[in-house]
Amino acid sequence: MRNIYRLIAVAVCLLAASCGRNATPVYLDDRKPLEKRVEDALSRMTLDEKIAMIHAQSKFSSPGVPRLGIPEVWCTDGPHGIREEVFWDEWKGAGWTNDLCTAFPALTCLAASWDPEMSAIYGKAIGEEARYRNKNVLLGPGVNIYRTPLNGRNFEYMGEDPYLASVMVVPYIQNVQKQGVATCVKHFALNNQEFHRHDVDVTVSDRALYEIYLPAFKAAVEEGKAWSIMGSYNLWDGEHCCHNHRLLVDILRGEWNFDGAVISDWGGVSDTRQSLENGLDLEFGTWTDGLARNSGGSDAYNNYYMANPLKRMIESGEGDEAKVDDKVRNILRLIFRTTMDRNRPYGSFATEEHAEVSRRIAENGIVLLKNDNEVLPLLPDSVSKILVVGENATRKMTKGGGSSSLKVKYEVLPLDGLKNVYGEEKIIYMKGYSSDADEKVETLDELKAAAAECDAVLFFGGLNKKKTQDSEGRDRLEFGLPYGQDAVIEALSEANPRLAAVIISGNAVAMDWAAKVPAIVEGWYLGSEAGNALANVLSGKVNPSGKLPFTYYAKLEDCGAHAFGEESYPGITPAGDTDAAIYAADIPTEQMAKKIFKQRYCEDIFVGYRWTDLYNLEPTFPFGHGLSYTTFEYSNMRLDKNSMRANGRIKVSADIRNTGKVRGAEVVQLYVGDNEASVERPIRELKGFRKVFLDPNEKTTVEFVIDRSALQYFDAEQHCWMVETGTFTASIGSSSRDLRCKAEFELR
Ligand code: BGC
Repeated sequence: MRNIYRLIAVAVCLLAASCGRNATPVYLDDRKPLEKRVEDALSRMTLDEKIAMIHAQSKFSSPGVPRLGIPEVWCTDGPHGIREEVFWDEWKGAGWTNDLCTAFPALTCLAASWDPEMSAIYGKAIGEEARYRNKNVLLGPGVNIYRTPLNGRNFEYMGEDPYLASVMVVPYIQNVQKQGVATCVKHFALNNQEFHRHDVDVTVSDRALYEIYLPAFKAAVEEGKAWSIMGSYNLWDGEHCCHNHRLLVDILRGEWNFDGAVISDWGGVSDTRQSLENGLDLEFGTWTDGLARNSGGSDAYNNYYMANPLKRMIESGEGDEAKVDDKVRNILRLIFRTTMDRNRPYGSFATEEHAEVSRRIAENGIVLLKNDNEVLPLLPDSVSKILVVGENATRKMTKGGGSSSLKVKYEVLPLDGLKNVYGEEKIIYMKGYSSDADEKVETLDELKAAAAECDAVLFFGGLNKKKTQDSEGRDRLEFGLPYGQDAVIEALSEANPRLAAVIISGNAVAMDWAAKVPAIVEGWYLGSEAGNALANVLSGKVNPSGKLPFTYYAKLEDCGAHAFGEESYPGITPAGDTDAAIYAADIPTEQMAKKIFKQRYCEDIFVGYRWTDLYNLEPTFPFGHGLSYTTFEYSNMRLDKNSMRANGRIKVSADIRNTGKVRGAEVVQLYVGDNEASVERPIRELKGFRKVFLDPNEKTTVEFVIDRSALQYFDAEQHCWMVETGTFTASIGSSSRDLRCKAEFELR
């Protein structure tokens, strides 16, 4: 009997042991809560494995834990398409043939659509492309505020207004992440210029920080639930943003409860202790210049700040391993949400559907800035000869510009798009100007003679993503158009009154010729379908509906950032030198990094239209401006009540009618201003918008809710948002300067 009991006991033990052996470890069991899985994986890792996980192993990847089957992290730029494969240790393209992607419009164009639905389809499509290419971190979107039109990377961001950028960024993030790909929202924070981007030390008031520069990041974290964020190159208050305690520990984690991974910008790390203690999780791109600085060559990755130097710090007891554990937790969470999510979709790549999405977004974002005498649309039947002038009609714009440069499956050039719509025989092309100083092009007289012979003239110019022309690492050197384009435009305007100028850019440019040119279009960098989208808008197949996400200043000095001298832009050395010479001489980043440039955001909260409104400056085209081939009438603005308490809400609405002859879309904008604030406040700020599509004579009612968030300002001393009682004005209109109806209400 006893033997039987013993046998049963042994059998039970064996069974239990074998169950234990085969049981899925908690970290691999996706029915278990995320945090349990994270802790389980962490508990199995050695210090070496932890250290390996928190820094790069190649240009764009970091190791997982091979022993535990935890996959690597693979990042890709972002934010307009999936970057080509590069060599393990180099920026150079690896020459793969399966990585020709769809290029989506630059984020300025997306913002110009003022349509969150466009952000959603953008996110889904680019997320699918990233997923198909087995990338689990998309390095984008970028939401740095457009502070100056000279910033070389504005085209990668979403304009000058924190509310617009906040609303537009959220659906992008959500829809990328539905594909099991993390977004990496960049560049956190205050990275508002490329000039001395590694060593400019920004000073900004807390009020401007919270009201202008942080809201889009906050929305990305709190509403978008972004799974990672990228620290920026610059310093804030003396500390590099990739390991800036206040930014990453106090604000990002402390105030916004971010539980994702903080990834450094490539080469943005410069200190081991700060990296350990100030909230950075993953180090990339140190010695980003091809590993040359580290003479160790192939073991360069082991010498990253968060590699051997950090390990030594931990082993000697000078650093706290618990802080390393926190980093590992954040990266594990990222991996569990992406590569280790067994339910994530498979993605798709360079499909017709994605091209269609890209074209739709482009068509929604193109902005008709001016259209006197109804020069546009150029209906195909109304023209037999069109003169197309300008290098940008034939220049690929998906290449260049820095890290967002793409290797695309195809890109439709504007000239080809026009030929598709009008037929080859109707199009005459002349280059007009050249970005190559040695190249000779037609004389102005020749251009004029040709223009006079045609029914209409389309000029394609602007910037071109070459160095200092909307490109990473360099700001623009002038507000004006390069390569003598102004003279070409003026000549054409003298020769033919049916002239439209299409500006391809991610920035406002000086347009001293604006009064002489009847039609002007902002054509952005539009991606794979650029030419088709532009031709569809110019020919009237698509009715333009984009609105400017930034102010088109008449002159550079009208921008607040430029109204205070070089301390405000681009910054000065502590000795007070302005040092433009260093920039002009194109000194390598490493030498520049030895200098710290001090910069003060002197215009404070008055960025963009907040500044031009305050001083009543007339922009060439205001924030929110954009025309249509139809017209809209605003009427019957009403509030559901005339007063509210601080926690209350007021509904405000207006009727919009399409009063023209074609179907079109209007972006109805709500601005709110505090009439009797005790602190200085912008005259009005964007607090709501809705894009409505209407048939001729169709009418709709647009309703907005005004709540506390639309009335508040940030009180830096008390470190909280405040609302003050008194009267406020709500204005509804078609741009920040074309306000069609107003109503006052009271906060009691
Ligand atoms: C850029 C980032 C980019 C990274 C990787 C950096 O130089 O600032 O935006 O994602 O390189 O290419």
